[in-house]
Amino acid sequence: MTDRILIIDFGSQVTQLIARRVREAGVYSEIHPYNRLDRAAIEAFGPKGLILSGGPASVTEITSPRAPDGSFDLGLPVLGICYGEQTMCAELGGEVENSDHQEFGRAFVEIVDDCLLFDGVWNTGDREQVWMSHGDRVVRLPEGFRVVGTSDGAPYAAIADDERRFYGVQFHPEVVHTPHGAKLLANFAKLVCGCAGDWTMAAFKGQAIARIRDQVGRDGKVVCGLSGGVDSSVVAVLLHEAIGDRLTCIFVDHGLMRQGEAEQVVSVFRDHYNIPLVHRNASELFLGRLDGVDDPEAKRKIIGGLFIDVFEEEAKKIGGAAFLAQGTLYPDVIESVSAIGGPSVTIKSHHNVGGLPERMNLQLVEPLRELFKDEVRALGRELGMAEALVGRHPFPGPGLAIRIPGAVTRDKLDILRRADAIFREEIEHAGLYNAIWQAFAVLLPVRSVGVMGDARTYDHVCALRAVTSTDGMTADSFPFDHEFLSRTGTRIINEVRGINRVVYDVTSKPPGTIEWE
Ligand code: XMP
Repeated sequence: MTDRILIIDFGSQVTQLIARRVREAGVYSEIHPYNRLDRAAIEAFGPKGLILSGGPASVTEITSPRAPDGSFDLGLPVLGICYGEQTMCAELGGEVENSDHQEFGRAFVEIVDDCLLFDGVWNTGDREQVWMSHGDRVVRLPEGFRVVGTSDGAPYAAIADDERRFYGVQFHPEVVHTPHGAKLLANFAKLVCGCAGDWTMAAFKGQAIARIRDQVGRDGKVVCGLSGGVDSSVVAVLLHEAIGDRLTCIFVDHGLMRQGEAEQVVSVFRDHYNIPLVHRNASELFLGRLDGVDDPEAKRKIIGGLFIDVFEEEAKKIGGAAFLAQGTLYPDVIESVSAIGGPSVTIKSHHNVGGLPERMNLQLVEPLRELFKDEVRALGRELGMAEALVGRHPFPGPGLAIRIPGAVTRDKLDILRRADAIFREEIEHAGLYNAIWQAFAVLLPVRSVGVMGDARTYDHVCALRAVTSTDGMTADSFPFDHEFLSRTGTRIINEVRGINRVVYDVTSKPPGTIEWE
């Protein structure tokens, strides 16, 4: 088994970052809530070390979370971060108190002694920038510990018990505002826990293929809903490598794709990858049922329901498939601990084709469920997929229907497709594609008066939206220069009949969402 680190979550907002940093060091890691673990579960996971995350609770309260049974007596190295350090100290005989010297944000730690965690980065006497977020602090260390770093607000900002291999930091090494934090976490995983650091995408690919073959068996058949997006494309190529022609992809074209997109998906998978592909053009059906519907939720429900019906029909025609492949990612699977301490289950593993598995009685194959989005892209590259596929911006399942507020018509779709293509073309030309998370045009249900040549116009308003984001949960409007916006706007108005005004959306998320619906 690959060396692995178990991250015990106490509900910090940044627990996911711990997993990312450890994985970036080439060590596989998973996050599990503290209250879903016990001695047996820790042993079954087989970690080479434990990391206790931060969290919003206060150790000084009697009901606050504690590290699961087995955390400190299975002989495993432990790194406690923030709340994790405090609970480790409290549980091992030290003392934690509410402090009136809180530290939030940037702080500095004085390195007062050598420590394996600091190897190759921090030396005794250094003053190092870190990121703190704590009210409580450790005021007495448990026996066996020594202090290796202090800060103004935390006398025990970094502590070590080399014999038991227990370490604690009051600051957060997982955030970028602790510039050497990633190295500290890598040191814990490799130097303290002895992990080899050989968890690479090449290794993952081999393991994932072996697991797929094991699950599907020698003659099992798999269907996969292909949308052309990164996740489903990587799933398709990985499965094809694992089981060849026993994979059939189904591409349901709902008539709400962008310009040239349906043809592109079909040609890439059928012609370039040679993956068996059913292409069902269902645009009549979808657009017919959407006719006159202007409520955003109603549009979504119609599209979701029809997608399932069509997919089901096509899957039945293939016959004999017992498995459904999906591009579920790790953030969809993680169960995090809510701020009030109880477990808040946020699983949405059926996010791609909601409802399908129950209705179809198919077993799920989810080879990406351990990966973050950028790791999926790395896997795609490992599989030899073209950058144009792997680096694609996300595109929503309901397609252009949620970029036409109000009722969807063929005319509006046509106008929107042309404006959207110009916007994306200009972004490509300006070399900005990879700096942007997502960029698209929206056709507003508003007409405005204009003058073109000597004539009056009364046409649609087109909004352009481009955002930066790391995960789509929060986003900022992309800061184009004015020259870019004015060039693009002019092209759209000149080249797309039906649009006479272009505006740029500067709303961040929150309070806006990325799509307009
Ligand atoms: P919002 O608009 O909620 O979007 O800020 C966040 C991200 O999710 C994408 N999105 C979807 N993706 N099916 C998908 O696969 C959907 O129904 C869907 N709705 C929104 C959106 O494009 C953005 O990247």
